[in-house]
Amino acid sequence: MTALISPSILNCDFGHLADEMDKIATADYAHIDIMDNHFVPNLALGLPIAEAAVANSSVPCDAHLMIEQPDRWAPAYAELGFASVTFHAEAAMAPVKLARELHAMGVRASLALRPGTPIEPYIDLLPEFDQILVMTVEPGFGGQKFLDLTLPKIQRTRKAIEDAGLDLWIQVDGGVSRETIERAAEAGANNFVAGSAVFKAEDAVAEIAELRRLADA
Ligand code: DX5
Ligand code: ZN
Repeated sequence: MTALISPSILNCDFGHLADEMDKIATADYAHIDIMDNHFVPNLALGLPIAEAAVANSSVPCDAHLMIEQPDRWAPAYAELGFASVTFHAEAAMAPVKLARELHAMGVRASLALRPGTPIEPYIDLLPEFDQILVMTVEPGFGGQKFLDLTLPKIQRTRKAIEDAGLDLWIQVDGGVSRETIERAAEAGANNFVAGSAVFKAEDAVAEIAELRRLADA
């Protein structure tokens, strides 16, 4: 599976959003983090900024909803033109119903798990999804350290997908860098969110290329 690089704009310069989106034009997806200060202890973006990000992106966008009541809000993000919407298993009231609603809108459905949430209760739901996001930090902030304790869960998720004969992507998000991306790829991830690694790099294009090379090796 070819590696996909999805820069997170959480810590980009929002005063120059269009320029920041241009910097990641060689990525595979743009990762847009939405936080409500309830599901996570931080507040970030909302529909108007997400809409501006999508409008200024030359690559497809994935919304990562770190919010309560995704059942209520996810369709509104899908309507903005996101190619993929990720919501958290811990927050969704009816994850299968919501995944089907997103599919009916032509959007990829992705289920996210906090570091402490096991995959096992969700294995039967895998056929309803296009992607599982295994969080590799506690959601809420960029710039945190990659949690190696999530690697076995990535492996178990990849095995469950293969055992079921499915074709889901596994995304990792949090602390992904040149130092950690190979470990995540070896464990079975193929879609890599990187926030600070890309936006703090002097040359975002070179950083994206290097992350892709390391993940594909
Ligand atoms: C954190 C967000 C991430 C964040 C990653 O909760 O979901 O997408 O931007 O940032 P880095 O790559 O700096 O850990
Ligand atoms: Zn994210």
